[in-house]
Amino acid sequence: MRTHRVATPRRYLMCPPTHYRVSYSINPWMDPDKPVDTALAAVQWEQLRDRYLALGHTVEELEPVPGLPDMVFAANGATVVDGRVFGAKFANAERRGEAPAHLAWFRAHGYPAIHEPEHINEGEGDFAVTASWLLAGTGFRSSPAARAEAQEFFGRPAIGLELVDPRYYHLDTALAVLDGDEVMYYPPAFSPGSRAVLARLFPDALLAGEEDAAALGLNAVSDGRHVLLPQNAIGLFEPLRERGFEPIGMDLSELGKAGGSVKCCTMELRD
Ligand code: ARG
Repeated sequence: MRTHRVATPRRYLMCPPTHYRVSYSINPWMDPDKPVDTALAAVQWEQLRDRYLALGHTVEELEPVPGLPDMVFAANGATVVDGRVFGAKFANAERRGEAPAHLAWFRAHGYPAIHEPEHINEGEGDFAVTASWLLAGTGFRSSPAARAEAQEFFGRPAIGLELVDPRYYHLDTALAVLDGDEVMYYPPAFSPGSRAVLARLFPDALLAGEEDAAALGLNAVSDGRHVLLPQNAIGLFEPLRERGFEPIGMDLSELGKAGGSVKCCTMELRD
């Protein structure tokens, strides 16, 4: 097992939770009757951003739009690989307005290859990028046709993975890329066939247990060495350390009330 891990500098796109609240419910975590502390959400979000900056990463900020409370989950707005931008097309009407806001940001920042998708997909919520593959979650939000569309656009083999548990409605709530072709995931979130595919592609994967998955522990961001993840997913810390990673627990409790955490707030700009 490899123990020396090297962080590489990353560029992330994040959107401050200025208009964040839970005013509708599109996943089982969201209860509009449960109060959300917006000021605390802002502090927690800033701590995440500042942690990335302290680790030497770059954070770009997307201007939040009033009336789009889930826009803080910037990972859902597009997928960027090799500087090529595959736009999102949201499954739920409540979030549809986020896609054009993301596209406008990419246009304003001079990205030459921007694809407006034909099929429903929620960006990095359902697309994960490993060294060899694009992993494409389906079942709740993103359509299986988006997998083929993304494969064609990126020219990377895209592996479809079917999600079956509504609590893990996006791939990034059930699987995280740690480094290269190394991942961690929660097997029960996937259909039997997709579990078999994951076991074949990633025989040495770190498998998360139920409690850590329920703490949104798979909603993690790795720079190849540091793994930022919800602090309550304590069961993942030791196995990550054994593999040479440095887990960094973050408190994003207020954003958890919308079913999101570290990764949802962080889109990686793979330029
Ligand atoms: N409330 C948001 C939704 O249900 C949360 C999105 C979380 N983002 C993510 N990448 N899983 O769409």
